Amino acid sequence: MAEVRFKKLEKVYSNGFKAVHGIDLTIRDGEFLVIVGPSGCAKSTTLRMLAGLENISGGEIQIGDRVVNNLPPKDRGIAMVFQNYALYPHMTVRENLAFGLKLQKLPKEEIERRVNDAAAILEIEELLERLPRQLSGGQAQRVAVGRAIVKKPDVFLFDEPLSNLDAKLRASMRVRISDIHRLLKKEKHPATAVYVTHDQTEAMTMGDRICVMKLGHIMQVDTPEELYNNPKNMFVAGFIGAPEMNLRPAKLVAEQDALFVDVEGQLLRLPEPKATNVKRHNPAGVVFGIRPDDITLADGDEQDQNILCGDVIRMENMGHEVYVYFRVGSQDFTARVPVDQVKIRLNLELRQNVKFAVHMGKSHVFDAASEQNISL
Ligand SMILES: Nc1ncnc2c1ncn2[C@@H]1O[C@H](COP(=O)(O)OP(=O)(O)O)[C@@H](O)[C@H]1O
Ligand SMILES: [Mg+2]
Repeated sequence: MAEVRFKKLEKVYSNGFKAVHGIDLTIRDGEFLVIVGPSGCAKSTTLRMLAGLENISGGEIQIGDRVVNNLPPKDRGIAMVFQNYALYPHMTVRENLAFGLKLQKLPKEEIERRVNDAAAILEIEELLERLPRQLSGGQAQRVAVGRAIVKKPDVFLFDEPLSNLDAKLRASMRVRISDIHRLLKKEKHPATAVYVTHDQTEAMTMGDRICVMKLGHIMQVDTPEELYNNPKNMFVAGFIGAPEMNLRPAKLVAEQDALFVDVEGQLLRLPEPKATNVKRHNPAGVVFGIRPDDITLADGDEQDQNILCGDVIRMENMGHEVYVYFRVGSQDFTARVPVDQVKIRLNLELRQNVKFAVHMGKSHVFDAASEQNISL
């Protein structure tokens, strides 16, 4: 059991490159925290500093009530699972699982019990006598996770553990890892987990909370729901959610009490409290944000709807829904529409002057200069 705390954590590599810029983060005891961000944002660097595989240039890391800055990896109470499973090729699965415990000089019966327990949890009992080269990618990854479980660490660290698996396997391993974390909690051995990925779907489905990083800075730490509904800045808004949020430069138009977003001359009314929040910031320039989920084909009853009229330029049929790409003046937008609606209203054809209803209650307005969300 352990809380993990970063205080003003910094990393400057020996070539002078500053990879981590003084980040503060508290990972709660027993929490599953996902660190997500594009390649190069310093996810691995941060995790490796936590593991003790990379030294710290500034600040502090605390695990439980100990500052671990100068503790070697083996004394930190952690176990790490990597992208390349790093199994010992000449040892059987059983020996791979037991190896770390033998080094710790645990009694033989204890080792056997832990290996068998982990094998049962991961459903790899029938693989125990095989060599790594006799395993599929998914099986090898399960063994790699098993090797972490047998250590009974306070903190599990995962660095893109599923990146080498195909999409289907990735989805099932995602569920399995989440299940194991929940199981350990239920069995009163709760472990804190820090899981690094560039994949926002993994982050959204696995994390109790998600920490979004960009170029060595933390952009937001929140629950998946909060990140999705209330992104604090343009980066988080664009990174979380697929297909991506539409983020387009726009103007603001104030008329009497109302505030409108002007997209290429078409006015969309901002509801309260968004309008008041935006006015308070008095921005010089803004970016309008709306998720594809919050744009539908207008249904003809348009009085109190906010309408964008545009030309459909492309459609991607996903089966149950269609991504409809449309152009308004010089700006492109994506809408995510149920397939039946597209059939009825568009006959699945690329048509011009199509009316789209924009659900402005779900929209966001960002300050173009600071990129902060000023409608929250
Ligand atoms: N040993 C190193 N020396 C100098 N720069 C490094 C070193 N390792 C990583 N970097 C740089 O630090 C940044 C963060 O890298 P990394 O933590 O691997 O990112 P991520 O895991 O998010 O893809 C990148 O710009 C990378 O090029
Ligand atoms: Mg990495």
